Amino acid sequence: MANVTVIGSQWGDEGKGKIVDWLSSRADVVVRFQGGHNAGHTLVINDKVYKLHLLPSGIVRPGKLSIIGNGVVVDPWALLKEIDDVRAQGVEISPETLKIADNVNLIMPVHSAMDEALEAARGKGQLGTTKRGIGPTYEDKVARRGIRLCDLRDPVLLREKLEKLMVHHNALLKGLGASEICPQEIFDQLMQIADQVLVYADQVWRVLEQARRRGDKILFEGAQGIMLDVDHGTYPFVTSSNIVAAQASTGSGVGPKAIGTVLGITKAYTTRVGTGPFPTEQLNEDGERMGQRGHEFGTTTGRKRRCGWFDATLVRQAVTICGIDGIALTKLDVLDGFDELKICTGYLLDGKKLDYFPAGQNEQARIEPVYMTLPGWNESTRGARSFSDLPPAAVKYVHVIEELIGAPVFLLSTSPERDDTILLKDPFYG
Ligand code: IMP
Repeated sequence: MANVTVIGSQWGDEGKGKIVDWLSSRADVVVRFQGGHNAGHTLVINDKVYKLHLLPSGIVRPGKLSIIGNGVVVDPWALLKEIDDVRAQGVEISPETLKIADNVNLIMPVHSAMDEALEAARGKGQLGTTKRGIGPTYEDKVARRGIRLCDLRDPVLLREKLEKLMVHHNALLKGLGASEICPQEIFDQLMQIADQVLVYADQVWRVLEQARRRGDKILFEGAQGIMLDVDHGTYPFVTSSNIVAAQASTGSGVGPKAIGTVLGITKAYTTRVGTGPFPTEQLNEDGERMGQRGHEFGTTTGRKRRCGWFDATLVRQAVTICGIDGIALTKLDVLDGFDELKICTGYLLDGKKLDYFPAGQNEQARIEPVYMTLPGWNESTRGARSFSDLPPAAVKYVHVIEELIGAPVFLLSTSPERDDTILLKDPFYG
C-alpha cells in the first residue's frame, strides 16, 4: 500500500509539519482533508521557515501535487494571501501544482463575525476558538446553506444563496447585538476574487483516482488532533470537523481502503491550546519548563499552549479510534534534564478506576490521572539520529509508551531539523 494518512493523536500541535514535510518529500501528492486555516504547520527547510495554515505541506516542494479536499473549509481571501506569502518566499504555485475541490465549502466574512460574536456570547463558557469562522462554516455546510467554490462560477445562484444565508445570519447577529452584514457586500467582494480562486478548482475525487491509477504515492495530511474531533474529542471543547483517519476518505473523495498506513503524530508530552479538559496538565514548574523548552506557542494565534505529562490512556484511545498503525514520536528532546517523568496510565473517577477517556463533559472535567513514574535522563537527545545515540532511560521511556498505547514507534523526531529523525519503519512501506 503506497499511501499514508497522517493524523494528530492528541490535541493538535504534535509537530506534524516536520513529519509531513519529511513524508511529502517521498510522496507525489499531498492532500488536506479537514479543518481550515485554524491549523498551523511550521516547516523548516534549509534554515528557511515556512508557516502554512491552509496549503498542504507538499506545496513547498517542486514537482508535488497539492490538493485541498472537500472536507476542508476554505477562506478564499486567506487562501490568496497565503499563496502570495509563500510565493514571496520563492515557491512556485500554479493550477498545475495546486487543486481545490470544487465542492469545498467557503468561509465567508460573516462566518468569522459569527465566530467572534458566538464566543463573546458564551461568556465564561468560551471554547477558545481561533475565530477563523471554522465552526459557523461547518454549521452552514451541514444545514445545507453553505457557499461552495463551484457557486462562484454561477453569479445568479450565488447571489440567491447569499441572500438566503444572510437572512439566517443577520437574524442571529442582530440577536447577539452585532452589526448586520449586507449580502450584496459579500457578493461584490467574492466577485472581485472569484477568477483568482476558480483557477484552482477541480474534481479532486477524479484527480485522486487518476493519481491512484498512475501508482502515485499519496499523503493525506490531517490537521489538529483526535481530542479536538467533533465526535471523539473533548466535546464541546473541540473543533467542528472530524479529524479521525477515516475523514481522509470522506474529506477528499477516495474510498476508505485508499488511505493506506495510518501514522499518528504524537508528542512525547501533552499540550493543548484553548479551553477544555486536560487531565495531565501541569500548572507548575514542570509545565512551564516543557512550554519554554518546547516553544509552545500557537502557530496560528500565538497563544501560549498548556503543557502536561504524556497521557497514554488518551493516545491509546486515538490508536483504536483511528486504526493507527504506528506513531511518529516528536519532541523527545524537550524532556531532557527532568529528574523523573510521569505517564498517565488511567484515571480515577469518584474512586473508580477507568482505562478510557469518558465521554461526559463533567466526567472529563472531574477525572484524576493515575501516573506511573519513570527515571529521567541528563544527556541531550537533541539531534539524535539513531536509537544507539539515546540514553537508556530515553529508550525505556519510548518503549513504555509503545507498550501502553498499543502501537509501535515508526519515526522518532529529535529536533525541528528534517534530518534529525530516527526512522524505524518507513510508513510508505508499512
Ligand atoms: P476552531 O477550530 O477555531 O473552532 O477552535 C476550536 C478549538 O480547536 C479551540 O480550542 C482551538 O484552540 C482548537 N484548535 C483549532 N485548530 C487547532 C490547531 O491547529 N492546533 C491546536 N488546536 C487547534
